[in-house]
Amino acid sequence: YAYCMLAAGHIDLVIETELKPHDVAALIPIIAGAGGIVTTWEGAPAERGGRIVAVAERIEGAAREIDASGLLVMPGGIDSHVHLAQPTFGGPKMSDDFLTGTRAAIAGGTTTVLPFAMQPRGAGLRAVVQEYHQEADGKAYCDYGFHLIITNPSPSVLGQELPALVGDGYTSFKVFMTYDDMVLNDRELLEVFECARGCRALVMVHAEGYDAIKFMTERLERAGKTAPYYHGVSRPEIVEREAAHRAISHAELTDVPIMIVHVSGREAMEQIRWAQNRGMKVYGETCPQYIALTADDMKGLNMDESGGKYVCSPPPRDHASQEAIWQGLTAGVFQTFSSDHCPFMDGVDGKRSPKAKTSFKWVPNGIPGVETRMAVLWGLGVAQGRIGMNEFVALTSTNHAKMYGLYPKKGSIAPGFDADIVLWDPARKETIRQALMHGACDYTPYEGLAVTGWPVMTILKGKPVCEEGRILGAPGDGAFLKRGISPYASK
Ligand code: URP
Ligand code: ZN
Ligand code: ZN
Ligand code: ZN
Repeated sequence: YAYCMLAAGHIDLVIETELKPHDVAALIPIIAGAGGIVTTWEGAPAERGGRIVAVAERIEGAAREIDASGLLVMPGGIDSHVHLAQPTFGGPKMSDDFLTGTRAAIAGGTTTVLPFAMQPRGAGLRAVVQEYHQEADGKAYCDYGFHLIITNPSPSVLGQELPALVGDGYTSFKVFMTYDDMVLNDRELLEVFECARGCRALVMVHAEGYDAIKFMTERLERAGKTAPYYHGVSRPEIVEREAAHRAISHAELTDVPIMIVHVSGREAMEQIRWAQNRGMKVYGETCPQYIALTADDMKGLNMDESGGKYVCSPPPRDHASQEAIWQGLTAGVFQTFSSDHCPFMDGVDGKRSPKAKTSFKWVPNGIPGVETRMAVLWGLGVAQGRIGMNEFVALTSTNHAKMYGLYPKKGSIAPGFDADIVLWDPARKETIRQALMHGACDYTPYEGLAVTGWPVMTILKGKPVCEEGRILGAPGDGAFLKRGISPYASK
């Protein structure tokens, strides 16, 4: 038996084909004699290659059978918030590029990632997008699209470049309310929101207040409080709440839906819930670090620089905040659970650079997580009874597809969808360890976390690309996804 988790629950699952006999060799069936999914194999005609042909109770004559006994058959994960090969303005280099980052993704059960194409200030966006394509081309192990980070909302960017790029499948933007190299002021945020309303892009907002962080940082530095732990103190939840509220106000003023990303705790979550209760189209995303880590992790062994391994923004909070995040996940405040994968090496070329030792403000922000995202949510969520497995599928796959214009191609197991599938062992006990990881980063922030539930096979467009941690796929298996307009964006 295998189970296929669809929106309505789980059903017994089989794989079968309607293809002609000469195509049969091109089929990948799952599950013998019982039931399963029939998908076209990579050698199938391009127009139907890699898609699900049928979900049936019985299949016969399959070219290949995959025994999914005791496993759950779920849509491949979609991680709509990852950073790959993104420049850091003189800071250390991100440790994952498209090759290593997507290799980690498939090992963790994820078959689609949405990284960012970031506009350096002053640069045009189209050229930047082309550069990211060159970075990704032929390297990716899984499918990918790009969000556009807008740092320079000039009239030509807002008036010409963005509308054209949205038409070309880059249907979401990200704006920052902090970071020297990316921050937009209120006027600029309003301009971007208005532009998004016109071209029907979905705007992701990094909600942390620039001035308050800078003020707090300088105060801490004057007091000699420069260890990584103080990164969290410099940007408390108040700072995130204020920015979330300001973004929501701007969204209301311009009448445009927004998605507030990487929400860390109760304060920002309650702002989103408040907006949702007023009928506003304000959506929310949270991440593994806000259910699995706390600010104490940034203390390191003894307020030493090893705490830099956990520095990300917004920072991990406390156990009460974790509970608030679970409330947001179960109550539907959050639509997506993403990794915010943003990896730096835990060495002098990353988290422990000479500069980073002088102040937390130079510790590169971000942690790896694309490979562990699904296991962390299953382990802490489903296995511990906090959420059900249908919520898991929605939070890790289906909602991402719907939110970012990939549905009905990605995010479900049904005829016509891409055959992106993860076979999940809900009984498997694992302890997350760096030795199990497939990316280029040299540590995992979840080292030692014992979980129940683990991906045992990842199938991308009908092709098994990872089995029991062994990579079977190849760079270039993944393709660029030209995304449609989000049904959650402006009408
Ligand atoms: O610390 C983080 N999250 N770095 C990644 C950039 C971002 O703001 O998402
Ligand atoms: Zn961000
Ligand atoms: Zn703890
Ligand atoms: Zn991010």
